[in-house]
Parts: sequence; structure tokens; C-alpha cells
Amino acid sequence: MTNNNTTKLMNKASAHTIKKFELIEEYVKSWAQKLMLNDFCNTLVFIDCMCNSGIYINDETCLQTEGTPVRVAKVLLDVARTYPNKNIEIYLNDINALKVEEIKKHLPHDERNFHVITKVGDASEFLHTIGSQLYNAKFLHYFLFYDPYKAIIDWEALFPFFRNWGEVMINHIVSDPVRAITQVKRTVTKEKYENTYLEDFEKLVPYGSDKQAYEKRVKDIITTLKGNRKYYVAAFPFYNSQNSQVYSLLHCTSNEEGFKLYKKCAWKVFGGQSSTKHLHSNPDQLVMDFGVGTSGIISTQTDESCFTVRDIAKYLSREFAGCQDVPLDALWSHLDNHPVFPSDGFRKEIKAELKSMYNVKQRLEYNLTTGKKEYLFSFQNLD
Ligand SMILES: C[S@@+](CC[C@H](N)C(=O)[O-])C[C@H]1O[C@@H](n2cnc3c(N)ncnc32)[C@H](O)[C@@H]1O
Repeated sequence: MTNNNTTKLMNKASAHTIKKFELIEEYVKSWAQKLMLNDFCNTLVFIDCMCNSGIYINDETCLQTEGTPVRVAKVLLDVARTYPNKNIEIYLNDINALKVEEIKKHLPHDERNFHVITKVGDASEFLHTIGSQLYNAKFLHYFLFYDPYKAIIDWEALFPFFRNWGEVMINHIVSDPVRAITQVKRTVTKEKYENTYLEDFEKLVPYGSDKQAYEKRVKDIITTLKGNRKYYVAAFPFYNSQNSQVYSLLHCTSNEEGFKLYKKCAWKVFGGQSSTKHLHSNPDQLVMDFGVGTSGIISTQTDESCFTVRDIAKYLSREFAGCQDVPLDALWSHLDNHPVFPSDGFRKEIKAELKSMYNVKQRLEYNLTTGKKEYLFSFQNLD
């Protein structure tokens, strides 16, 4: 039975919040499996510096549901048991002491190679303490989740996490400035936005309700912080039941495999699309496409805030227009570096769409060097 104090600490979780939990759980599960097979990793660290109470009430079903840290802890306990020679450490912090007391009740117990450390305090102070220890840490990989309620990003505290072996997930609450920026009067609120976007308030006001401007600013800051390393940032938008974007979940990593995996997990959790948006228009509706070099061909509609598998096929049909005998692998590796489209997952659906919608022809050939059979694809010219 849930007691009264626990009930008070349970926030409501809307559908998009539950998708956020699911996405991080799904990603950490696959990410941890990959890292456990890597000889250069013997300790895996998950950090949620704003962890909340661990349990929520599902807005739609009114049933209890677990938040990100509890889900991740359970997933990582399985990983610790499967790989007894590796260590798992979970660091959870929240400014609210009662929430931290509550979350402890929902976490698995420590085991020899599995430890959960909880703290009460300000996220920035907590990250300064951990961050300074990362520079000398060998064989350690971390995943840091930065999940505020408002558009608050403390870049200084995050800095060490962009420079070492690990990944950072930031919840950028883009709906906050969009709603408030033009009405802000208080100096403290102006400073909040200045610190998040590292820009004078006066220069932020013209951003107004342009979500993409704030998102670009955040990406530009990450590009500066990451230093000279090759770095990958993938951002997926989350929409509420009124189809308004509430936030973007940005995954930041120097590891290409992590980038590809995050895209794959996001599309899987969103059910074959790139956001939690409810698509009103019929994605099957055919339209005349008058884009550059596509003079009036028949195609499907695209909603840039919520791509579907059809948009991936459309993109490939343009990228490979007129190309003959393209090996299947070349199609998938072309998607590796795409900011949103996954190169893994939904391959069967993409191929089917290419054939039915874009008249792409497939043929089977035996590769005499490898002795393997491979599928080759020929694309129509668009003119
Ligand atoms: C969106 S919730 C976090 C949800 C959690 N990450 C999850 O996925 O279940 C934000 C949390 O940040 C906490 N918080 C707010 N300001 C904070 C601060 N300065 N330092 C640490 N925690 C803070 C709040 O108490 C709240 O529990």
C-alpha cells in the first residue's frame, strides 16, 4: 500500500514523460551491453543529477510508473549480474531531501559490483564534485542525465562531461523561453536565460517563439565545449497531447556507435517516427513535389517536426537518384551521419517503401570476391 507521504511525492507523468523514461531505459540497456564487451571499460557510471522521487502516477491510466533512474537501475543490475568482472555505479541527486528518501525505497539493493550512491543537494555542486574526478579516471564510461523542469543548463558544471569518456543527455525545455522570453521583467529570470543560452538577454529577446533558434544556440554551445574531438549530437522533440513541443532530448557523444544507437532507440520508442507528435494529416496522402531537381514527381507529405519511415525512403530516393546497382549496405551507411534518420531499424519498411513509392529496382548478385550474395538497388532519375 502507498502511504500518504509517498503519494505527495509522486508527480503526474504525461504520455510524453513516459516516452522519455522509455527512451532512456531502452538506450542505456543497449549502450551498457555494448560497453561491457569493450576491454577499455571496466566501470560504467549512470548519473541523474535531478533524479526526483523515482515513481510517478501515469496521467492516463492513474497507475504508478517508475521514472528514469529506477528503470535504469533495474536494467543495470541485470548487466552487473551478467558481467561479474565489471562494475556498475549509479549516482542519484536531487535538491529535495524527501524525494531522495523516497527514491531509495524503489531502488534495487547494492551487490558486490553494483552500487547506488544517493545525494541531496544542488545539481551544479554535485556535478562539480564528480566532474573534477573524471580527468584521471581510466577504464570508466559514464552517462549523465541532466533533466531540469525549466530551461536551465549550467554549462560550466557540464564542461568536464563533454571532455571525457562518456555521454551527456540534456533535457532542453524549449517551451520555457518560447512562452516567457518576451514578458520577463525580473533580473534573476533574465540571468537564468543568459546562463542557459550564454547570450545577453537583449540578444535573446528577438528569438521570441522560434524554437529552432534556441535549439541551434544550444547545439552551437556544445560544439564549442566539445573541443577538437569529433562529436555527435542528436536531438528528438517531445510533444504534449495538444501537439505543442515541450522539450528536446539531446544526446551528446564522441562515439559514433552511441549516436547511431540513440537514433535507433528513439525511432523504436516513438513507433516509427521521429517525435511524439500526433500526425493529423495523412502521411499516405500523395502530393506533387516541386523541390529542386524533383520537377513535379509524385511523393508523400513531410512534416519536419515528425518524420516517418516514408520520409527516410524519400530522402534516399533523392540522394541516390539515377544511381545504378547500389549495394544495400551503402544505403544504410549513408544514413549513419544523418542527424535524425536511423541507419539501423525499420530497414524492411524502408526497402518496401523505396520499391512501391519510388520504383527502385532490386536485383540479387553473387559477389565473386566474398562468395556472398548481395542485393543491388537501382534508382530512378528524378527529372
Ligand atoms: C524533471 S524532474 C527529474 C525527473 C527524473 N530525471 C526522471 O527521469 O524521473 C526534475 C527534478 O529536479 C529537481 N531539482 C530542481 N532544481 C534542482 C537543483 N538545483 N538541483 C538538483 N535538483 C533539482 C526537482 O526536485 C525535480 O525532482
